Amino acid sequence: MKAKRTWWRDGVIYQIYPRSFQDTNADGIGDLQGIIQRLDYLKDLGIDGIWLSPINPSPDVDFGYDVSDYLNIDAKFGSMQDFDLLLNEAHRRNIHIIMDLVLNHSSDQHPWFQESLKSKDNPYHDWYLWRDPAPDGDYPNNWLSFFGGSGWEYNSSLNQYYYHTFCPEQPDLNFRNPEVRQAILDVFRFWLERGVDGFRLDVFNAYFKDRELRDNPRRRGLHLRPYDRFEHVNDISQPEMFPFLQEIRKLVDKYPNRYVVGETFLASPVQARMYIAPDLLHAGFDYAYARSPWGPTGFGNAVAYWDALHGEKDWPNYFLNNHDTPRSASRYVTGEDDARLKLLASMHLTLRGTPYLYYGEEIGMRDTRYSRAEIQDPVGKRKWLSVKGRDGCRSPMQWDASANAGFSPAKPWLRVNPEYPTRNVEAQLQDPESLLNFYRALIRLRRENPALHAGSLELLPLENESVLVYKRSAPTQEALIALNFSNHPQQVNLPGEDNTRAWQLLFGGSESDPPLLDADSLSLPAYGTAILSR
Ligand code: NOJ
Ligand code: CA
Repeated sequence: MKAKRTWWRDGVIYQIYPRSFQDTNADGIGDLQGIIQRLDYLKDLGIDGIWLSPINPSPDVDFGYDVSDYLNIDAKFGSMQDFDLLLNEAHRRNIHIIMDLVLNHSSDQHPWFQESLKSKDNPYHDWYLWRDPAPDGDYPNNWLSFFGGSGWEYNSSLNQYYYHTFCPEQPDLNFRNPEVRQAILDVFRFWLERGVDGFRLDVFNAYFKDRELRDNPRRRGLHLRPYDRFEHVNDISQPEMFPFLQEIRKLVDKYPNRYVVGETFLASPVQARMYIAPDLLHAGFDYAYARSPWGPTGFGNAVAYWDALHGEKDWPNYFLNNHDTPRSASRYVTGEDDARLKLLASMHLTLRGTPYLYYGEEIGMRDTRYSRAEIQDPVGKRKWLSVKGRDGCRSPMQWDASANAGFSPAKPWLRVNPEYPTRNVEAQLQDPESLLNFYRALIRLRRENPALHAGSLELLPLENESVLVYKRSAPTQEALIALNFSNHPQQVNLPGEDNTRAWQLLFGGSESDPPLLDADSLSLPAYGTAILSR
């Protein structure tokens, strides 16, 4: 009997940054109609779900990560009708929609915050983290903002400070107030009722803060960023998050086939793992893999650890790219050659765990360099995290060689990458050896082979220090994946076992320079991939 397919576990999820995907009304900003127009492209790519970065109304201090109405769609992206249409059209193609919920903080323009500003006895005052100044007028405690400076912003009419983990325009909600928790659960219910398939929870482990707002202790060692000079034990990761996640999960589980994935803020793999359980999150993100240095040791270590932490019961996921990080094509490659990206794709799509792709990853989009004057990201503008900020990985999707890469007839909100005349979807669809066709083939392969989408994972000893080798085992099939991270041909021995069935080459990556398989060894070209099965 064929095992039932679970979309978020067996499939591939594709993150869209809606501002940058496809503009249809010539305002230079991507929109929901644009996503609808491109659904067939995504269907052909072979994905099962879309994670949409936030589309709720937002004054865009942090481009959607500052929400002023949780129960609506921002007019720049379209209407609620457009959203319902997107849901329908996606579902018709068996594509699921994951919404990004940014609940740790709202926008300062949210009516809840506007009310809370009015007076200390306004019913909404306690919905945010207001505190009196210290006796000397100083900040209520030593907590800093992740985006730089104190986490406390002074309001002179109330003579109080409010707390913000991120920008001052992103005040943190007070999750210890039961009315806040109720309002948040209502947000989930609202979108579940509309038919949304899943949620990505932005920095969920920051929802609760220490009840007494005690100072964070100093961290040992020298740290460049002031934020890193503290142990973040009191401003994030409080035990109260567990029962609240249980409430969220109970609600979500009332609806069939739904999914909740969490972005665990500042967490080690072990901490991120703690929130994944049948009554908590379905899955969580971990950065170790995306931050790995190039080579089998770094990736092997990250994968071994993250896989082992999940054990047999829970299901990992992996991402190489998102809207906060320089693109893998810029981190691991200089120049325009895609050989290394094909190798990364081969690994990414054959691990035990849901692969997340970020728009444009499948055509090898590089980060775009922006001048100081072009910068849009608040982080870049404030020179806080780094001088450049996160705009580089958010440039418009490169669809074709026409003006603005086919993203928009108007001037895009962020300039298109100058390589777009050659690096774009249309050109790559026509080239059988393109990165895009490589992704399409691998996604299909993953879907068709149970060892690849459902099998357990076993890393084999590194007998050649340039080649990562692992086995995926499902009841009906085994696969062996060998990945050559070096720019020279390499050879590995096949594991000699009692199994008499011989390995067959399932995927060799390249028609012109394929790997060579003989009875007990495998020869891989530079940056070559071999996927064997039996
Ligand atoms: C994490 C998001 O991924 C990031 O883009 C955002 O700036 C912060 N949370 C604040 O919401
Ligand atoms: Ca638009």
